[in-house]
Amino acid sequence: MCGIVGYIGGKQAAPLLLQGLEKLEYRGYDSAGLAVVDAGNGGIIVKKARGRLSALKKMTDCGKSIPGILGIGHTRWATHGEPNDVNSHPHLSRSGRVALVHNGIVENYAELRQYLCEQGYGFVSDTDTEVVVQLIDHYYENDPVAAVRRAADQLRGSFALGIVFADRPDLFIALRKDSPLIVGLGEGENFIASDVPALLAHTRRVIRLGEREMAVVTREGVTVYDHFGVKLEPEVLEITWDAESAEKGGYEHFMLKEIMEQPDAVRRTIAPRVRGDFTIELGLRRLTDDVLRSLDRICIVACGSSYHVGMVARYAIERMARVPVTVALASEFRYDNPMIGPETLVIIISQSGETLDTLFALREAKERGARVLSIVNVVGSSIAVESTDVLYTWAGPEIAVATTKAYSTQLALMQLFTLYLGRVRGRLTDLEAREEVRSLLATGDKLAELLKDTSHLQYLASLYFNRRDIFFMGRNIDYALALEGSLKLKEISYIHSEAYAAGELKHGTISLIEPGTLVVALCTGTKLHEKMLSNIREVKARGATVIALTTKPIPLDPNHPNANPDHIIELPACCELCAPSLSVVPLQLLAYYVALLKGCDIDKPRNLAKSVTVE
Ligand code: G6P
Repeated sequence: MCGIVGYIGGKQAAPLLLQGLEKLEYRGYDSAGLAVVDAGNGGIIVKKARGRLSALKKMTDCGKSIPGILGIGHTRWATHGEPNDVNSHPHLSRSGRVALVHNGIVENYAELRQYLCEQGYGFVSDTDTEVVVQLIDHYYENDPVAAVRRAADQLRGSFALGIVFADRPDLFIALRKDSPLIVGLGEGENFIASDVPALLAHTRRVIRLGEREMAVVTREGVTVYDHFGVKLEPEVLEITWDAESAEKGGYEHFMLKEIMEQPDAVRRTIAPRVRGDFTIELGLRRLTDDVLRSLDRICIVACGSSYHVGMVARYAIERMARVPVTVALASEFRYDNPMIGPETLVIIISQSGETLDTLFALREAKERGARVLSIVNVVGSSIAVESTDVLYTWAGPEIAVATTKAYSTQLALMQLFTLYLGRVRGRLTDLEAREEVRSLLATGDKLAELLKDTSHLQYLASLYFNRRDIFFMGRNIDYALALEGSLKLKEISYIHSEAYAAGELKHGTISLIEPGTLVVALCTGTKLHEKMLSNIREVKARGATVIALTTKPIPLDPNHPNANPDHIIELPACCELCAPSLSVVPLQLLAYYVALLKGCDIDKPRNLAKSVTVE
């Protein structure tokens, strides 16, 4: 949520800040703004505009009309106050001495605002952020670090902040708590950003600020302090993503590009963890085989699509490793007095590694003595750093808000972990495990085969893109996949959609099926083909149009053609473990092409943000 950038160096800041914000637009696109220190006149120039970044670019002639070599920028996903010009960031203090950009939510903003009003401060916006800038201004007596620290000590909630001072053209300050912020190290110039893509054009050397750490950024260098003001020696990470991986590369949308990248992303995630003899090498440091053998249960915690991966993984783990698994939504888990302890393995799944609910769930789990394994895409992110052990998905940067390749790599990695666990706990023989690993390794090629021809999905989308309701149904793993297919569709096409366990449909939802309603029936679990066919007949009898997704030919009823699915999507033959990785692809493509035909803004769907760093 919200994207922050900051720059100090020898170049004009505003155009660079806008370029950085362009790469962070997936984090929020309600409004955008810049604040640049005008060294010549001793002030701060603030420009902001409601709506997409393009409005701000137009207003500032792509930044060229704003002089200055030090500035901060922001792209907003509104929390407090509607997305208008006044509520947009950066916010300037009453005196004009301080400007800042903020990501997160300040929970005690009302009481701080009250205090500041009593001190004579006035407010122009509805935001929690304006309180922070006025508070820093209130404490500012020529020592920026002291003023920021004093103000930050009073803030409750989450924040990543970039702060400039009118009378300090030589530095800016960044600090964070529970919201991500990284520092980019250049030559004679330095940066801050919420995420790596904003920095890739300038540097690959980054420092990920830890909890409550503060960076004082100058042209020459960066000094990092902990919460108590102690100077730190932060680790400098080398980012291996290439700049092109965060570009569209000829595709119309990031989402389509990322769908097409899935074969390689899955291969990258699986292959390096498999030895030549098909045994698995996960490289876990603290979660030793003895620890994995001693577990009583597993609790998978995540949000959104990552939660759906957890639901698929539950079936696989219980079947192959015979460990009981519960799957919890991170936002619920924290407040649910979860029954976990030292014998529980909590698996946290998160693409960004920064989703606030998931991060807080992780902390809750650790406090209760559980060990935490995280499955994360972003190296060095908060969740990765705070877990007992981390397994990275090597999906590369994912820019489209609707996740695709991150989902696939999470799934593949969970399957590999399942096989490892099954082997370690003696539930799979050496031979069985190797056979499964061999099949899993083929997933990348099967995905590539599946993606060679998307014309059938384009055709189906053209038939049904104007439907009002689309239902998804399946049983067991197919139900978990139905949830993801339905989410993908509603996220980007705004069509009302629900996913149901097929047997449950008749307990209420079937009343919504009427002539013309589209139902996507997932039938990849061959053992349940007949049950699924009955459910398909139930909805067909009520006038629904059915698209069935299968791995093996469905036994159709020649005597009652009207009871059979209207369209069948057949997936390449594959092992049971790989089936979910393949089945999700037609669902992603269906959602994509439907949204395309509806003219939706696919990479930046309304009201959504990629990285959700508020509760
Ligand atoms: C947002 C994204 C989803 C994602 C979810 C969890 O809602 O739009 O695609 O699944 O957050 O994010 P995480 O980074 O924790 O996987």
